[in-house]
Amino acid sequence: MATQEQNRQFRLAARPVGLPKRSDWDLTSEAIPEPGEGQVLVRITYISLDPAMRGWMNDARSYAPPVQIGAVMRAYAAGHVVKSRHPDFKEGDCVVGVLGVQEYAVVDGKHLTKVDPNVVPLSAYVSVLGMTGMTAYFGLLDVGKPEPGQTVVVSGAAGAVGMLVGQIAKIKGCRVVGIAGGEAKCRYIVEELGFDAAIDYKLGPISTTLRELCPKGIDVYFDNVGGDILDACLAQLAMHARVVICGAISQYNSTERVKGPSNYMMLLVMRARMEGFLVMDYASRSAEAAREMAGWVREGKLKWRDDIVEGFETFPETFNTLFEGGNTGKLILKVGDGR
Ligand SMILES: NC(=O)c1ccc[n+]([C@@H]2O[C@H](COP(=O)([O-])OP(=O)(O)OC[C@H]3O[C@@H](n4cnc5c(N)ncnc54)[C@H](OP(=O)(O)O)[C@@H]3O)[C@@H](O)[C@H]2O)c1
Repeated sequence: MATQEQNRQFRLAARPVGLPKRSDWDLTSEAIPEPGEGQVLVRITYISLDPAMRGWMNDARSYAPPVQIGAVMRAYAAGHVVKSRHPDFKEGDCVVGVLGVQEYAVVDGKHLTKVDPNVVPLSAYVSVLGMTGMTAYFGLLDVGKPEPGQTVVVSGAAGAVGMLVGQIAKIKGCRVVGIAGGEAKCRYIVEELGFDAAIDYKLGPISTTLRELCPKGIDVYFDNVGGDILDACLAQLAMHARVVICGAISQYNSTERVKGPSNYMMLLVMRARMEGFLVMDYASRSAEAAREMAGWVREGKLKWRDDIVEGFETFPETFNTLFEGGNTGKLILKVGDGR
């Protein structure tokens, strides 16, 4: 049992092969640290569970250094200030930052962002108004550059980023086709979120349905999954299409070589562009996106869904549900009593 005096943490115990196992994690407990000069002690309430965390567990070249064996797992999180030795923060403030998979974190104030739980609930600052929302906004609008009347296809469409991408594309006047796993998710994105159509990739190869639903081709493909779905979408590109490489979750646990797109010559045929992007490159513009997204939320044009799972100790199993399609919307781990 955790007491008030203890801070529980999930540390990386081993580099996983394939889907992470319980033995790849260590659940440890230590005294709650004291903040030093310029630092803030945060009690964590919501931990953002992101597919990218799987990549951070590998000892491989990437945009962020690997999490070291024995270190607390890296994660975005939201919580409340308990003690502050930084002039910009006081006890009770709501904050977000890279706080780790733990119950308390001490961080430099300069790495924290203060948020207002009166605008949206605190959890939404790790989803629609957090990194997830920024990913959908900048990936679609800045990289995908959709125009009214164009056809946008998004995979992982009932997931955190995907469901926002589809709705933003609708706000921008596009026709939107979502690709998701299972009938319930497909029904949800069409009936609740206003997508024009959905494809259940779990029913089998998607090429025929994709052709039927996108008879003039795909102008923007927002890729969250990679693999066969990326390949099928490449085959259906329209002239001057943009392919946004946001993620490739189908490959993250692969124990073989990453499956690259064999249809890449369609980029040449259709004079199309395929471009990867990282949300962190847009940090300096996040206020602009947050303002516009918050406006759409207020006007009821943009819905979001936080899939909140309770129980710090469930982290290893809850994290894995991302790779099994267990979540609809943003997967978040709720810590403590959630106050
Ligand atoms: N570039 C960036 O800066 C950036 C930032 C954030 C996220 N991302 C990427 O964006 C993508 C979505 O992230 P998210 O946080 O929104 O996660 P998410 O979509 O909420 O959750 C993952 C979803 O992926 C789907 N999935 C899992 N395995 C799959 C497979 N083998 N084939 C097809 N779909 C599969 C599952 O939905 P189904 O039930 O539909 O299969 C699952 O629910 C990820 O690739 C992530 O790495 C990139």
